[in-house]
Amino acid sequence: MKFVRLFEPIIINRLFIQNRMVMPAMGLHYTKDYSFPERMQHFYRRRAHGGVGLMILGPVAFDDRGAAPAMPGIFDDRALEAFRIFLDELHRDTQTKIAIQLFHMGRNAPSPLYTGKPALAPSALKSRLTGLVPQAMTEEDIREVQAGFARGAKRAKDAGFDMVEIIACTGYLVSQFLSPLTNLRTDAYGGPIENRMRFGLEVIRAVRAAVGPDFPIGIRVAGNDFMEGGHTNAESALFCREAERAGIDAINVTGGWHESTTPQLTSHVPPAAYVYLARGIKEQVGVPVFASNRLGDPVVAEQVLRSGAADMVGWARPLLADPDLPRKVRDGQAALAIRCISCNQGCFDGIFTGQGVTCLVNPTVGREGELKIVPARMPKKIYVAGGGPAGMEFAWVAALRGHDVTLFEKEAQLGGQVDLAAAPPGKAEFLNVARSLEARMRAAGVKVRRKSPLTAAKVKRGKPDLVAVATGSRPITVGVPGADKPHVVDAWEVLRGNVAHIGRRIVVIGGNAVGCETADFLVSADCPKPENAAFLLVHGAEDPQRLRELLCRSLRQVTVVEMVERMAANVGPSTRWVLMKDLQMKGVALRAGTKLVAITDTDVVVETAAGRESIPADTVVMAVGARSVNDLARRIEQDGTPVVTLGDAASPRNMIDAIREGFEAALTV
Ligand SMILES: Cc1cc2nc3c(=O)[nH]c(=O)nc-3n(C[C@H](O)[C@H](O)[C@H](O)COP(=O)(O)OP(=O)(O)OC[C@H]3O[C@@H](n4cnc5c(N)ncnc54)[C@H](O)[C@@H]3O)c2cc1C
Ligand SMILES: Cc1cc2nc3c(=O)[nH]c(=O)nc-3n(C[C@H](O)[C@H](O)[C@H](O)COP(=O)(O)O)c2cc1C
Ligand code: SF4
Repeated sequence: MKFVRLFEPIIINRLFIQNRMVMPAMGLHYTKDYSFPERMQHFYRRRAHGGVGLMILGPVAFDDRGAAPAMPGIFDDRALEAFRIFLDELHRDTQTKIAIQLFHMGRNAPSPLYTGKPALAPSALKSRLTGLVPQAMTEEDIREVQAGFARGAKRAKDAGFDMVEIIACTGYLVSQFLSPLTNLRTDAYGGPIENRMRFGLEVIRAVRAAVGPDFPIGIRVAGNDFMEGGHTNAESALFCREAERAGIDAINVTGGWHESTTPQLTSHVPPAAYVYLARGIKEQVGVPVFASNRLGDPVVAEQVLRSGAADMVGWARPLLADPDLPRKVRDGQAALAIRCISCNQGCFDGIFTGQGVTCLVNPTVGREGELKIVPARMPKKIYVAGGGPAGMEFAWVAALRGHDVTLFEKEAQLGGQVDLAAAPPGKAEFLNVARSLEARMRAAGVKVRRKSPLTAAKVKRGKPDLVAVATGSRPITVGVPGADKPHVVDAWEVLRGNVAHIGRRIVVIGGNAVGCETADFLVSADCPKPENAAFLLVHGAEDPQRLRELLCRSLRQVTVVEMVERMAANVGPSTRWVLMKDLQMKGVALRAGTKLVAITDTDVVVETAAGRESIPADTVVMAVGARSVNDLARRIEQDGTPVVTLGDAASPRNMIDAIREGFEAALTV
């Protein structure tokens, strides 16, 4: 496809933006004291140089009550000065325009932990995120917060930002005023929708008065709160229409609230799933509308613009994965782009673990100033054993540095376990990890030998200076009576499609990621495909309730047995709840705290705190872990060749570790 619309300029108020790609705000958690540190500057600098049209820097706090010190504060003079210098530099060196997202979390602000003062909200309703009860805002509080937005916007303009964006989505302050769920006020700011909109509209007017008529102001709204009793697309569009009248120049439409149980960010969300929300708003307003969420495939993004549903497309995680995506698409190198797979393992889970945002497919995220691919001082001859994520990442980076790299893969296909990771429902995009690494290896000049296991003898003959052993792992089994029966199969074989006969009553042994995802795979196999369901719905062949049943009910009865008390304990928090929801909707029985004792021809015998019991099983699927495959490393080392062991071959973990290790090792050889 020719990318035409993505590269058309757009004008917002009087701001000229060179193309239609916008990087929406992302909380990075690279600061702890409202400052704008070097680490963050490196992150944004890298993205601006990649060619994105508009970059929304944020979230940024405008006071110490509405947010937390894990983001920069525009009220802080040190941060302001750092912004000023940084924006001067980016305006000098790049064409990217930079907006600021002014942030107020209302009842969800963790600020009480830092200030000792309660958070502010329309009503004193406990936050589900912090567990704290906020203070219902008085009229004075309302004026003060509105003035804070205006002051923040003026300081941002003076610092050199090109635009401000007011956050009015996600269940934060402005949306708390908008929603009848969180706004129980009986004064002029509560009750009917006209009153609930008042706070947000006054914020817009205050910001407009502070920055003047020519300065662009945007707003980020939830296209649908996805909260029962909350705003739908219709109310959201109504608010946007009023926001336009109050002086808004652009509307950035995202999905629902953080508290919603509708997934919005995992790979289960189909690409462009929420563009219809932007379209619903575009119908009601004349100012530019941005669509967002899961638009990282440039073809999808171009199609959204061509369809007229939105005027700009948001790329948040896609620009974490590859800051050069806009440039690559422009230069006809889209195939070389590193594609975000919506795993959330590095970005959202990086926030939850307190490490700050990083990325599974791009280990340089958050380390842009530190990790640089520079030519090797002494080019070496390097062999790589294993074409999984670890081996391929190592190979392309080492080759790019000038080393002579040959990668050996014993199978016909590259990718290692990537095909397994991609098999469960909603995970197909994991295949992009392998595709993209393969393309980068090719571009970097790595010689690839498929169906060619690396052996100690080959190493002796070839005499490389170094061997990178990335031979991965293989599944293990448990030594219980009956584990060798013919109806006992391995999860990897099931996911690879190598088991033709699977019964109706299935017990999966092991409730970590692989076990739970295999269970999901098994109960989804006989359900209609989403496009079939859409077809039946459109033609009125089945009613929505029956369709939901068809989509969620398998003929199979699957039980997952896990020894420890927590299922899917090794799945990151941003994704685990979606997996659990899926399994529960599809009727999978989850038996935590249950130990496998034996397997008979008809049952699985387990032990719980209540004693022994039998679970009928036609097929038993083993998902009890993996062990490293690394005997090659020992043999080569004995022969005196230097070896570096990477990824699962060092210890079975996951792709984020495999890729990070491959990258880091390639920088040091
Ligand atoms: C069902 C499932 C789901 C998963 N889901 C996720 C997930 O959601 N997120 C995540 O981060 N991780 C996930 N993982 C784990 C992840 O896939 C692995 O941690 C990752 O693939 C390890 O990469 P690697 O390169 O070290 O090893 P592998 O991917 O195992 O690759 C090793 C490669 O080496 C080759 N090889 C072995 N011996 C030789 C030899 N002597 N010569 C040449 N080639 C050889 C193998 O054929 C293989 O291609 C999942 C795993 C499974 C099984
Ligand atoms: C780590 C992270 C932090 C985020 N923080 C914010 C935020 O502070 N404000 C906001 O409006 N959106 C935030 N988002 C949402 C993104 O702007 C974007 O809407 C979302 O990631 C979906 O788009 P994508 O599929 O292009 O990533 C965040 C996203 C990520 C990945
Ligand atoms: S960690 Fe996963 S979801 Fe997040 S940006 Fe990277 S690839 Fe995308």
